[in-house]
Amino acid sequence: MTAVGIDAIEIWTGNLKLDLPGTFAPEKGEDPEKYTKGLGLNASSFPDSYEDIVTMGANAAHRLMERKGLEPDDIGRIDVATESSFDNSKPVSTYVAGCLEGVFDGDFHHANKGERKFACIAGTQSLDDAYNWIRAGRNRGRSALVIATDTALYARGDAGEATQGAGAVAMLISEDPSLVELSTHQGYGSADETDFLKPNQQFPSVDGKRSVQVYLARMREAVEDYESVAGDVHPDDFEFAPFHTPFPGMVRKAAMLAYRHVTRDTAIEDELADEIGRQPRREAFDDEETFHDAVREYMDSLKETDQYREWYDATIDPTLSISREVGNWYTGSVHVARVSALKTALEAGRDLTGETLLVGSYGSGAQAEIHAETIVSGWEDEIAALNVDEQLEARYDLSWEDYEEVHDVHNHEMDVDVEEFTAPESEFVFDGWGRMGERKYRYVE
Ligand code: CAA
Repeated sequence: MTAVGIDAIEIWTGNLKLDLPGTFAPEKGEDPEKYTKGLGLNASSFPDSYEDIVTMGANAAHRLMERKGLEPDDIGRIDVATESSFDNSKPVSTYVAGCLEGVFDGDFHHANKGERKFACIAGTQSLDDAYNWIRAGRNRGRSALVIATDTALYARGDAGEATQGAGAVAMLISEDPSLVELSTHQGYGSADETDFLKPNQQFPSVDGKRSVQVYLARMREAVEDYESVAGDVHPDDFEFAPFHTPFPGMVRKAAMLAYRHVTRDTAIEDELADEIGRQPRREAFDDEETFHDAVREYMDSLKETDQYREWYDATIDPTLSISREVGNWYTGSVHVARVSALKTALEAGRDLTGETLLVGSYGSGAQAEIHAETIVSGWEDEIAALNVDEQLEARYDLSWEDYEEVHDVHNHEMDVDVEEFTAPESEFVFDGWGRMGERKYRYVE
């Protein structure tokens, strides 16, 4: 069977940055370590006044197509995953294609375009759609462009405000990929939940604490479902586990649960038994409450063990390096985690060809999905071609007053006009409104 997977990836961050410990914490009267240590975040990326989900998505896709020497004819499908869409009919992918047609010869008139919605998991679902389209033999030798783009903004004063972010990830899905091959095995955990939603409103309604519990419950179901088709997962089976990262502290909790699950009935549990005892089993307890207390106690001890710390530092921590600096990118977040891990490995000079990633995606509402990917030959060149550090470094550092202004600019209920903080260069920008309420864009050389 021909390999199908991610051939190339590009990241585009919003051009502004909000410093959480330095700028946000003092205004909120909070200890800066609530953000840096508790949530695990140093900063959020923000869109400048001329940026939105279309500009960021088109900019990421433009960079990707130029770097790979692609023309519109090479692309048979453009899917945009977003939970920040501004139109209930016209998909964002048509705007993105329109932008790209302005800078490439040719057009995307024979490409299938769509928009995918299921909160943050929609980016991964779009990867699946592209994979299935290629596997079904409907691609006529062409590749799919998957773009996950979001402005993850919360209402001012919402607890989620500290976890905001804005950016896009563009991925090229092809036969014989140069980055990762997707496996056919998948596991799902899906249920009708009201943890986080946007019922025809721009900013989310969030039950923050519950959303954390729903994330963990669905992820656990997804792992079990994955194991039912792929066999039991063991910590030695994968090099990194990129998870959906609304904030790194969330992944810390998920990693802990995952480790407990995948070490149960293994030699690792036996090794740990002398130090912290065996994992509590439900059947050994009379009721749920005492069982849960025992599990909590076991987890508190587990996280202090050398085995767990070493595993976490090697397998999870490298997936969080970009997220710490950019916040939540919703649909793009798990794909940023994959890049973080591979970038860290490249910088450490590791040879990962043939190794496995276990990828955990999540979308509120709610659904988790687990799948495996094999890192393939060529990954080093793909990751070395990224300019993530330069982009992050170039962001304009917002003062508190700047932040208040730019949040208002992006608030659909407000009609605010402020000077842009950065000068766009070699990128698409928002250029006002058309006669039917459509958005207009232009390319700035
Ligand atoms: N030093 C160190 N740590 C500190 C601290 C300090 N001074 N002060 C607080 N902390 C720790 C807290 O103990 C807590 O850690 P634990 O959960 O491990 O105990 C952490 O910092 C956060 O503190 P709070 O729980 O008090 O923070 P909060 O209530 O203000 O907000 C939140 C947390 C509810 C998750 C909020 O950020 C939120 O609503 N976020 C949006 C929803 C979200 O992201 N949910 C995640 C799952 S849903 C999902 O993944 C989909 C999606 O993308 C939105």
